[in-house]
Amino acid sequence: MEFFEQQWSSYRAIVDHDLMEHRALTAAVAQVLDQWLATRPAGTPAPELVDLGCGDLALMAAHYRRWPLGGLWALDLTARVLSLAQQQLGPVGYPCCFQQGDLFAWASQVDGQPVDLIHTAFAVHHLNDDQKQTFLQGCRRRLRPGGLMLWGDVFREPGESRDEYVKRYSQRIRSGWTVLSDLQQEQTINHLSSLDNPADWGTIGALARAAGFESRWVWGGQHRAEKLLVLT
Ligand SMILES: C[S@@+](CC[C@H](N)C(=O)[O-])C[C@H]1O[C@@H](n2cnc3c(N)ncnc32)[C@H](O)[C@@H]1O
Repeated sequence: MEFFEQQWSSYRAIVDHDLMEHRALTAAVAQVLDQWLATRPAGTPAPELVDLGCGDLALMAAHYRRWPLGGLWALDLTARVLSLAQQQLGPVGYPCCFQQGDLFAWASQVDGQPVDLIHTAFAVHHLNDDQKQTFLQGCRRRLRPGGLMLWGDVFREPGESRDEYVKRYSQRIRSGWTVLSDLQQEQTINHLSSLDNPADWGTIGALARAAGFESRWVWGGQHRAEKLLVLT
């Protein structure tokens, strides 16, 4: 992921200015997870969580510090963000592992250790549609009974082609992301034009069902792109 390797400061500016609605998405994730934690039977072992494509944990770190986790695996393809993530999290009272790796490979690992919680934000849209299906099947396999998966991401509107989506999102960047320099805007557009492959959100229910999940949309942003899906 050259963009994330070389232009992390541009991505960080996008997050800091909330251009992809990270704040509302993270609040929705926290609300779902707070509720899930509150309804766990007393005496259940502390839940283990994996964050797939964790980035630098800019917004999630505060929640990971306060949740009573039994372990955190933070996985990302881009090595340099992992030290930022570790710094951002700081000391916590449970074991953590910051690991460079591919989320698709993680989900495909048949004998991999199961987890109670899977969180992923703005990373799965890099997979193609077949890979997304295989990825969901793998996540289902690695999730313990009673576990929860939270998938925040960008999605296409039902029936919208990838080209239409790229055009629409590029217009959004050029007209609204003016806190970024022209160069940063063009680099972001180049990245999304060449590498982003958001799923049509209208097809996701069937995809999730085929993987053995029940799914529900719990949040949608104001730009008809960012959304949060909960899978159980
Ligand atoms: C847009 S950033 C999102 C970071 C963070 N989750 C957030 O919400 O701010 C995408 C992150 O996913 C990582 N990524 C992309 N494809 C990946 C893959 N196949 N496996 C693991 N990480 C991946 C990138 O390196 C980058 O850190």
